[in-house]
Amino acid sequence: MANWTLVTGASRGLGRGFAHRAAEDGRKVILSARNEAELHEVAAELRRKGVEAMVIPADLTRIEEVDRLWREATNGRQIDVLVNNAGLGRNGKFAEGGWDREHASIQVNLEALTRLCKLAAPHMKEARGGRILNVASLAGFMPGPGMAVYHATKAYVISLSDALAQELKGTGVSVTALCPGVTESNFLTDADMDSLYLVRFGITQKTRTVVNAGWRAAMRGRRVVVTGPQNKLLALMTRVTPRQIVGPIAQFLLARRK
Ligand SMILES: NC(=O)c1ccc[n+]([C@@H]2O[C@H](COP(=O)([O-])OP(=O)(O)OC[C@H]3O[C@@H](n4cnc5c(N)ncnc54)[C@H](OP(=O)(O)O)[C@@H]3O)[C@@H](O)[C@H]2O)c1
Repeated sequence: MANWTLVTGASRGLGRGFAHRAAEDGRKVILSARNEAELHEVAAELRRKGVEAMVIPADLTRIEEVDRLWREATNGRQIDVLVNNAGLGRNGKFAEGGWDREHASIQVNLEALTRLCKLAAPHMKEARGGRILNVASLAGFMPGPGMAVYHATKAYVISLSDALAQELKGTGVSVTALCPGVTESNFLTDADMDSLYLVRFGITQKTRTVVNAGWRAAMRGRRVVVTGPQNKLLALMTRVTPRQIVGPIAQFLLARRK
């Protein structure tokens, strides 16, 4: 079986890391995101490692682009690893600010990811094997006052992945939800999160650490993986602490440091 890995959001950050990680396993990689120039840069890096790489630019806010991406990716190819990594967020009170970025978060983090799972699951099931790695977040374990939509999309990703993993049990196809905490990348600046207490005082993980943990977990077919001991503890605390207490703590962590 050909061993193609499809990575969304592969132009930078964690996605770029996943593309390199797949290449280190000798896998052929399909890279997708909007920024074509950055994707070609990554493809050139992978080719220098002796790995076949292909670029398919797509804007995942548009469902027809998601379908086109899958069509082009699977044209004569078997995808056996799908890394649903593309994602974005917006820091700011829900009742204030515009709708566009929140809408894009729903389209990319939730709709595009779901659609790609829907397309990949039967494709992999028929081939009797495959790995789907959905990049969720520690944010999915708690409400996000100040980042409400982003947290809600990630809670959805965890729930969806867990359910699909159960449905696909015994088929050779696994689904993993990766839940990193704060990680070095452009995401924090893009989402206007640099000055939050969480970012200033929390432990920021290295991209490489998160990528390795996620890749290993997906290859082992694990379901929900939180990276790093501090994040694991936080995830556990959200499960045993009453909701009335989790909300205010999350609000404090997501507040701006003056
Ligand atoms: N960094 C963190 O602290 C953190 C923590 C937990 C979870 N995560 C999750 O990790 C994933 C990767 O984030 P990152 O930290 O690597 O952020 P990043 O550096 O901002 O990368 C985001 C990636 O998503 C792509 N993307 C954004 N909008 C897109 C669109 N409309 N269509 C297609 N691709 C799009 C971007 O490419 P283009 O702009 O070229 O399209 C880029 O490659 C996200 O799902 C994020 O929620 C991040």
